[in-house]
Amino acid sequence: MENFQRVAMITGAASGIGKAVAVTLAEQGYQLCLVDLNQEKLDVLSEQLALKTAVMVQSGDVTNAEFIQSVVQQIEQRFGRLDVALNNAGMTSAAKAIADLNIQEWQQIMDVNVNSVYYCMHFQIPLMLKSCGGAIVNTSSMLGIIATKNRAAYVTSKHAVTGMTKAVALDYAEQQIRVNSIHPGYIETPLIEHIDHQFLAKKHPVGRLGTPEEVAELVSFLLSDRAKFITGSQYVIDGGYSIQ
Ligand SMILES: NC(=O)c1ccc[n+]([C@@H]2O[C@H](COP(=O)([O-])OP(=O)(O)OC[C@H]3O[C@@H](n4cnc5c(N)ncnc54)[C@H](O)[C@@H]3O)[C@@H](O)[C@H]2O)c1
Repeated sequence: MENFQRVAMITGAASGIGKAVAVTLAEQGYQLCLVDLNQEKLDVLSEQLALKTAVMVQSGDVTNAEFIQSVVQQIEQRFGRLDVALNNAGMTSAAKAIADLNIQEWQQIMDVNVNSVYYCMHFQIPLMLKSCGGAIVNTSSMLGIIATKNRAAYVTSKHAVTGMTKAVALDYAEQQIRVNSIHPGYIETPLIEHIDHQFLAKKHPVGRLGTPEEVAELVSFLLSDRAKFITGSQYVIDGGYSIQ
């Protein structure tokens, strides 16, 4: 019962990896704040998880700093504390070389994939410090460690998450806040539904895509006290893709 009554904030919680983590943490007894743009999907998930734990939903855009600030304020009002967070909402970029990528597309990827992670940690950490520590996982990608063709914006954004994670881990290690990043290969979620799955599967040495539940196992470990000596680390979960 180590996680009993702990409070978790998850962004991008209505779908894919974020949703799988919400289900896993609910089973482990965490109280949850689920954040996403998609109110309808959040409501369905919240109804399902409310049978197991206390859940609050916050629908809004993670690129809005004031929204993130108000989410954290509402967590404090409702639960009085924040123990762990998964900063996970993200989007892919169109397949384009950088000369063809327009400034609006570039900025949108940076807003959603990078700036939102800054807003989240900026507001989460002071609340975590009030209860003397916490654990954060930021969702990067294997493309936060290696590159692929025609994805300069996404690759840049996910490398930024990798670097931000290391820097913040260093700043708060002494104050018992651990910060790690995860680096998934292709995972079966709506984010990649437009890409041919058979083609993608062949690129992974294990011959298949990952599942959101497999990523949730890793995240729940990193957020737990079982990982209390782990901070500033990059956890690759990609079926061997990036070792080739
Ligand atoms: N699926 C993959 O293959 C894969 C691989 C590596 C990394 N990732 C990363 O994992 C994270 C989660 O992706 P997923 O695959 O679960 O995708 P998904 O599309 O299933 O879920 C992403 C969720 O984020 C929400 N979201 C997007 N923009 C938002 C915004 N501005 N404000 C609030 N919510 C927003 C969406 O509504 C959606 O519910 C992303 O950061 C993605 O880059 C995914």
